[in-house]
Amino acid sequence: MKKRIYDDVFVAVDIGTTKILVLIARKLEGNQFELLGIGKSPSHGLKKGVVYDISKTVKSIESAVKEAELMADCQVESATIGISGAHISALNSHGMIPVKGNDITQRDIQNVIATARAVQVPEGQKILHVMPQYFVVDGGERIIDPHGMYGVRLEAQVHIITGSVASVQNLVKCCDMAGLRVNDIVLEQLASAEAVLSVDERELGVGMLDIGGGTSDLALFQGGSIRHTMVLPVAGNHFTNDIAICLKTTLNDAEEVKKEYGLAHMGMLEKFGQSIEIGTVDGNNNKIIMQSELVSVIEPRLAEIFALVKAEIDRRRMHHFLVSGFVVTGGGSLLPGICDVAGDILGVSTRVGRPSNLDKFHDALQDPKYATGYGLLMFTLKNRNKHGINFDAPMVTRVFARMKTWVLDFF
Ligand SMILES: Nc1ncnc2c1ncn2[C@@H]1O[C@H](COP(=O)(O)OP(=O)(O)OP(=O)(O)O)[C@@H](O)[C@H]1O
Ligand SMILES: [Mg+2]
Repeated sequence: MKKRIYDDVFVAVDIGTTKILVLIARKLEGNQFELLGIGKSPSHGLKKGVVYDISKTVKSIESAVKEAELMADCQVESATIGISGAHISALNSHGMIPVKGNDITQRDIQNVIATARAVQVPEGQKILHVMPQYFVVDGGERIIDPHGMYGVRLEAQVHIITGSVASVQNLVKCCDMAGLRVNDIVLEQLASAEAVLSVDERELGVGMLDIGGGTSDLALFQGGSIRHTMVLPVAGNHFTNDIAICLKTTLNDAEEVKKEYGLAHMGMLEKFGQSIEIGTVDGNNNKIIMQSELVSVIEPRLAEIFALVKAEIDRRRMHHFLVSGFVVTGGGSLLPGICDVAGDILGVSTRVGRPSNLDKFHDALQDPKYATGYGLLMFTLKNRNKHGINFDAPMVTRVFARMKTWVLDFF
């Protein structure tokens, strides 16, 4: 039977290192949406957020799309996808122009942003996002929107995110092969932030770390705009590897015990903890380990991640951005006690971020590992119909052209 094709449907695909999540939603009044379908499948073709096996990735995407389509009873053709990986890097840049007619126009704003984004990008990399942080008119206060103001000199501070052309191309190619046209690519931590951070937190200043399977994605916000981003190539899968190596067990068992008995630090152990039965590394026998042995593997790894985050924040002198604290999300944030470790190392109060404002039907998504997928939906809804996309242009030109227009999203 032929499936329905809705006009007002939009789709988000989170292509993670451990799972593919496809969400199909329909736009309602205002910024509301109704979730029509959810599809999940284990992800097999990615390492540290980057595609290394096209056919495995395509199969995983196809199976998640099929499941979501079945639930939604409709057929989807295009989607917004997330991007992450060690190839992503970021920098802040400054630009200045004289204002010709004294009143600042949209064209002046575009020109000053164009000046700020004129930075040298390493070969093989391209600019993915250019996000204005603030503007200054005639050396005055920092402002978010200078449009219509009087002045003779306009300055802009922007956050520029670059990524490898090859990685973007591979991701887009996998979606195309799975029958999904890519409308938009969004940096994963920007999507997660959309789902788990409040407007006030972003205004006052907050840090967020999405600890996934392959990468931990950092974003710092203040004054309502993004201040810094970084992708760390260490996350949940590294805990699993360390557990398998140190406890001499299989990767599957390591993953299972981590999820069931893993704790972020020794202080969380009840007395001496439990004894746990796990398989030996050859998979033929079982043996008993103590929960404390498991936690002694996880604790230093987790502390290492937050020490890297702290070092980055200190190096950039950005500690004052954490006014309203720190938020951890992604599947890796499900380790009990993680907020104590993060809070101790970063020196600010920390909470676990879950997609919020969900009704009963969306309840299943109230899990940190769905932050990126849910945030991609919110991001798409916010920016829908804002830009015309030329779908006849070559695929990658089209996607990069789309990314360039994100500059306009902030006005
Ligand atoms: N209860 C749990 N306790 C500890 N870790 C968990 C738990 N549940 C999931 N994880 C870990 O979370 C990680 C997966 O998180 P998530 O689904 O956010 O990653 P992903 O989006 O697939 O990967 P990435 O964003 O790095 O590409 C895995 O390493 C998994 O072991
Ligand atoms: Mg993820």
